[in-house]
Amino acid sequence: MERTKKSARNKTIDLSVSEGQAYLERCIQVTKKTTLPHVLDKTICGDSFAVMPKLPAGFADLIICDPPYNLTKDFGGRQFKATSEKEYLAYTRRWMTLAERLLKEDGTMYVCCDWRSGIVIGQALAERFIIRNRITWQREKGRGAARNWKNSMEDIWFVTKSDRYTFNTDAVKLRRRVIAPYRVDGKPKDWEETEEGNFRNTCPSNFWDDISVPFWSMPENTAHPTQKPEKLLAKLILASSDAGDVVFDPFLGSGSASVTAKKLGRHFVGIEQNEQYCVWTEKRLSDAENDKTIQGFSDGVFWERNTRK
Ligand SMILES: C[S@@+](CC[C@H](N)C(=O)[O-])C[C@H]1O[C@@H](n2cnc3c(N)ncnc32)[C@H](O)[C@@H]1O
Repeated sequence: MERTKKSARNKTIDLSVSEGQAYLERCIQVTKKTTLPHVLDKTICGDSFAVMPKLPAGFADLIICDPPYNLTKDFGGRQFKATSEKEYLAYTRRWMTLAERLLKEDGTMYVCCDWRSGIVIGQALAERFIIRNRITWQREKGRGAARNWKNSMEDIWFVTKSDRYTFNTDAVKLRRRVIAPYRVDGKPKDWEETEEGNFRNTCPSNFWDDISVPFWSMPENTAHPTQKPEKLLAKLILASSDAGDVVFDPFLGSGSASVTAKKLGRHFVGIEQNEQYCVWTEKRLSDAENDKTIQGFSDGVFWERNTRK
């Protein structure tokens, strides 16, 4: 079938499996027990439930999970069907037990969810981890509803295995415009005067209103239905890992966690069952060889929504 021509400004990555065959060939399959060097900096094309038991225990410093929420959704031809809370809890416990084995004793895990799946996921997390926080991301975009509030938030649970864990607050400061600049002896108090205006670097909170969903004019955008922005991943990775650490994502999708990890000097391992999404991941990883920019993150700080390209 002939595809409609994209406008020149539309940067969406949507190449097909046949167009991206060379990218697909960079992915690996894991069918028997394996070692870290074999999977390091790789995209594993396969079913996480089958692959995770083959990976070495405790290899991950940071796990970022963005599992299918309990909604009926088509992921490249494979449908995830909304199910009862009881069944979704059983499904969550299954992947979480497998992921727990792969996390270092001093490691951190983040799990993305919406308000409904978050109830179940929070319960399963509390059974085996120390819950440290729950971040709310105001993603803004959402489908309007006639008899309910539009759902425009997502949550991210922050958990650890023990009280020893990495948290780099200074790496995730948010640069906010100063509304009422306060001076002491004529000098700015905890803020900076620049040609672009007055700014202050503020401590990161658990409410994130500075991140937009990827859209068609952004080079990171793919045709994946639930792609997370690199800026969001960058906050998780910078706060909860150090350069050279290993970031693992068992529901990789279009590769956002691996790509952002690579841009920030971390190692990565990701699993995705859909070949099409693996192609997009590898294309993005290849682009990241030459372009390490993350939209909304520059000069070592995160900028408020729409203040930086
Ligand atoms: C919510 S999306 C993740 C999106 C991702 N964070 C991104 O930024 O693109 C969930 C992904 O998990 C994949 N998936 C679902 N079940 C899986 C399984 N058992 N093994 C591997 N991948 C799976 C789906 O194909 C989908 O791409």
